[in-house]
Amino acid sequence: MVVCGTIRQVTRHGPAFMSIMTTRAMSTQVMTKDPCLFLRVSCNNCLLSPLSGQVRRLADSKEVNDNVEKLRRGESESVRNPEDLPHFRLPTIQSGTEVPAEEASKDVNSSGKKDMPPIGTYVLPHPIWTEEQVNEVKVTHKEPECLVDRLAYRTVRLFRGGFDLLSGFKFGTRNEKKWLNRICFLETVAGVPGMVAAMMRHMTSLRRLQRDQGWIHTLLEEAENERMHLLTALQLKEPSTFFRLCVIGAQGVFVTMFGISYVINAKFCHRFVGYLEEEAVKTYTKCLEDIDQPDGPMKHWQTQAAPDVAIRYWKMKPDSTMRDVILAIRADEAHHRIVNHSLASLRKDEFNPYKPGQ
Ligand SMILES: [Fe+2]
Ligand SMILES: [Fe+2]
Repeated sequence: MVVCGTIRQVTRHGPAFMSIMTTRAMSTQVMTKDPCLFLRVSCNNCLLSPLSGQVRRLADSKEVNDNVEKLRRGESESVRNPEDLPHFRLPTIQSGTEVPAEEASKDVNSSGKKDMPPIGTYVLPHPIWTEEQVNEVKVTHKEPECLVDRLAYRTVRLFRGGFDLLSGFKFGTRNEKKWLNRICFLETVAGVPGMVAAMMRHMTSLRRLQRDQGWIHTLLEEAENERMHLLTALQLKEPSTFFRLCVIGAQGVFVTMFGISYVINAKFCHRFVGYLEEEAVKTYTKCLEDIDQPDGPMKHWQTQAAPDVAIRYWKMKPDSTMRDVILAIRADEAHHRIVNHSLASLRKDEFNPYKPGQ
């Protein structure tokens, strides 16, 4: 074990400094360009064996400040994909060609300025689908088995029917504007349950002074995944003031209701999300059917280029289309469906079977 200069500094300045340095170390970790360099530097400064696979290093403030300055200048090529770091699972299945970091750094943000890392640079590990996997997604339904299941299913059916009616989705032609409105609005809602559930379990762990059973990372991953669906669809839509107000109202109501429900009955909430995801798979399947109609108003998504954020996030081929994006989103929704039905069937003190990125 090596006791380095930085550690002596930490000891001198106490626990608060230790906390700051640990945070800095974690942020610097993703900024180190060369993994070998990362490991070499880590070994000089670490308290763990480099063979442990969980190496943390302590960065000095100059290094951190230099990296912050680089990011402010828009030099995001030094930000590594978290999945490439040694402590994350490397994806074994890839649907397409990985976008090199140099290519990603050429991207511009949504406002057209090269002043910050592109969207999707900082993401949690998440499943990467193969072409075969995205094409074999099916609309499925889990039969309710108990009163809680039936209540969850009825609630989802009621929400779906009400939303289809109020949003006018049931009437008229389903064109691009209608689809983008629906996708953007529903994804702002879909990102809520994972975050609320993760926060609830996190708080429970703190309050009861006991471990979580490994659920939190999966729930946070789901929340981020839904937010990436939203950010992808927003590349094609400029939200109106009315749309923004609807989103704020819906978020206020849904966060409150879902939070209260999670305290009362977490099983109901995960079953509710499981059924909500069943509906999401149906919706995106319908979207694909519309895209595949030879003379339909959505046929241009067969050839329209996928936004850069989607190519980066799902590691898609550079020539992917909007149809490919919808296929990837549908596969994500099918994944949330099985994850939430699984979590609903577990006791809340049972271990989560899904590892990070699975
Ligand atoms: Fe989604
Ligand atoms: Fe989902």
